[in-house]
Amino acid sequence: MEEAVASGIEAIIIVTGRNKRSIEDHFDKNLELEYALKKNKKYELLKLVEDISNLVDIHYIRQKEPKGLGHAIYCAREFIGNEPFAVLLGDDVVNSQVPCLKQLMDVFERYNTTILGCQPVDREHVDKYGIVDGTYIEEDLYRVNDLIEKPSVEDAPSNQAILGRYIITPQIFDFLEHTKPGVGGEIQLTDALKALAKEEPMYAYNFKGRRYDVGDKLGYLEATIEYALHRQDLRDEFKEYIERLIQSDLYKQI
Ligand code: G1P
Repeated sequence: MEEAVASGIEAIIIVTGRNKRSIEDHFDKNLELEYALKKNKKYELLKLVEDISNLVDIHYIRQKEPKGLGHAIYCAREFIGNEPFAVLLGDDVVNSQVPCLKQLMDVFERYNTTILGCQPVDREHVDKYGIVDGTYIEEDLYRVNDLIEKPSVEDAPSNQAILGRYIITPQIFDFLEHTKPGVGGEIQLTDALKALAKEEPMYAYNFKGRRYDVGDKLGYLEATIEYALHRQDLRDEFKEYIERLIQSDLYKQI
């Protein structure tokens, strides 16, 4: 959400599902907490809490059945209308100088068509991602010839993976409407994009930044630790703590 706002996005729709009410609560106003913080003159914390609810205009829609990413996006078609839109997958967190989505928006400004946010991944991990078959255009930019969702290592045309950031033209909805369930029995966005790439130009852009898969246990821990080490208010103490912990073997005694 912070990345989208920092990139200049003004309206956001979050596609949620059952048991995900905490997302709505997180971005909502927290009147009781704000009152308590004000009363106790904890103004810094108050600002933090208020900032979250003031971030941007947020809308929600519930995907009633887990039918896949393509279906989730199709659920938002009325909200999106006939304009290009950005998609950010919550599991992919990117730490970068220029917000990742802003980097894609800059490429979109030049080409006015669908842009996929990518980075190379280790060859043995291609089966976790949408993989691009592309033609080199210039540094960090490829024209998309074809896409394959979660190919085996043998079938992968490259190791260039789509990493949870997209700018997509509204024509995608014509394809999503007819996309049949693919890998994992889900309606895959990649399959609809593959069909769209046959009809209009599409580009894969290698964004700059460190990307974490917070849907994975190790990725979640890496993100937590590295974000903490990036924060000036925590860095020194936290670093010292980690160093002390590793050296002392204390964690093994439990
Ligand atoms: C989804 C997309 C895939 C993309 C990946 C990025 O897969 O289907 O194309 O590469 O996100 O994280 P999922 O992680 O939901 O299986």
